[in-house]
Amino acid sequence: MSFPRRRLRRLRRTQRLRDLVGEARLGVDDLVAPLFVREAAREPRPIGSLPGVVQHSRESLIKEVAELRDLGVPGMILFGIPAEKDARGSGAWDPDGVVQVALRDVREEVGDDLVVMADLCLDEYTDHGHCGVLAPDGGVDNDATLELYAAVALAQAEAGADICAPSGMMDGQVRAIRGALDESGFEQVAILAYSAKYASALYGPFRDAVDVQIAGGGDRRSYQQDWHNAREALEEIRADVAEGADMVMVKPAITYLDVIARARAELDLPLAAYHVSGEYSMIKAAAAEGWLDGDAVALEQLTAIKRAGADFILTYFAKEIARRQ
Ligand code: PBG
Repeated sequence: MSFPRRRLRRLRRTQRLRDLVGEARLGVDDLVAPLFVREAAREPRPIGSLPGVVQHSRESLIKEVAELRDLGVPGMILFGIPAEKDARGSGAWDPDGVVQVALRDVREEVGDDLVVMADLCLDEYTDHGHCGVLAPDGGVDNDATLELYAAVALAQAEAGADICAPSGMMDGQVRAIRGALDESGFEQVAILAYSAKYASALYGPFRDAVDVQIAGGGDRRSYQQDWHNAREALEEIRADVAEGADMVMVKPAITYLDVIARARAELDLPLAAYHVSGEYSMIKAAAAEGWLDGDAVALEQLTAIKRAGADFILTYFAKEIARRQ
C-alpha cells in the first residue's frame, strides 16, 4: 500500500472542510454564567481582579439574567455576598438572605427560560472564611456542617432554585442535601455536585469577588483535593453519584483536563467543568497587555474543555461568547 500522501492536511484546507470534520464544538447552549449579588448594594460594583465581572445589586442582577436569557445562555449560578458574616454563616440559610431574595427576583424575571442554580456553601457567609463550621480544635467539623448545608438547600429550594450546587467538599454532603430536599417535597430540585474540586490557587480572584479571607492565612487543603492526585477525583465522583448527585463537576478545568477525560470515560451522567476565576483573569490580564489574543485563547480553552468530555461549562466568558456567536 502506498503511503497516503498529505492525507492529514487535506481536510484542513478550507474553513468549511474544517467545520465539517470538527469533533468538539462550543455552543451557547454549553454555557453557565456565574453571577455575584451583594446584599444592600445600590449599584453594581466592579471586581478589580475579574475585569468585566461585577458584584450585582438586586436591580442589576435582574437586568443581567434577562440579558443572558435573551442571548440564549441556558443557565446561571448565583453566589451571594452578605452584609454581615458570622461564625456559622447563618446568612446562607436565612429565607431573607441575599441569595434567597435574589433567587425569587430571578425566578420572577425569567420563569423557566433560564436554569437557575445556587452555589451551596458557607464560605461567603462565615466570618472565618471556611466552607463549614469550626470544631473547637479549629478544624472544619464535617458532620456539623452537613446539618447546615441541609438547611441551606431547603432555603434555596424554597426560593426557587432549579439546582443546588454544593461546593464545600464535605464528605456526605450530597446525601445530606438530597435527603433534606426529598423530605420536604423538593424531589424536583436537582443536585450539581462539585465532586472533584481541587485546593487550587486559581480561586484567588473569586475570593476578592465574594470578600472572603480565610482566617489566619489558612487554606482549604484539609477538605479540597490535593492537586497531585487524579485517581482520588474518580473516588469523589463515584461517592457523589452513589449519594444521589444528578450531575457532577470537575474544578478548575484547564489544569484538570485529564480528570475531565477520565470522568467522562467512566460516567454517563452529565459532566460539568468550572473554568474558574484565575483561568479567566489570566487571559484577561495577558490580553490587556497585548500579549495574546484574549478572545481566541478563551475559545481555544473552552473548546478544549468540551473536547476533554465536559457537557457544559461554568465560565465568566459566558456572555462574551454568547454575544460573539
Ligand atoms: C466556594 C466556591 C469557590 C469557588 C466556587 N465556589 C471558592 C473556593 O473554594 O475557595 C471558586 C470559583 C472561582 O474561582 O471562579 N463557595
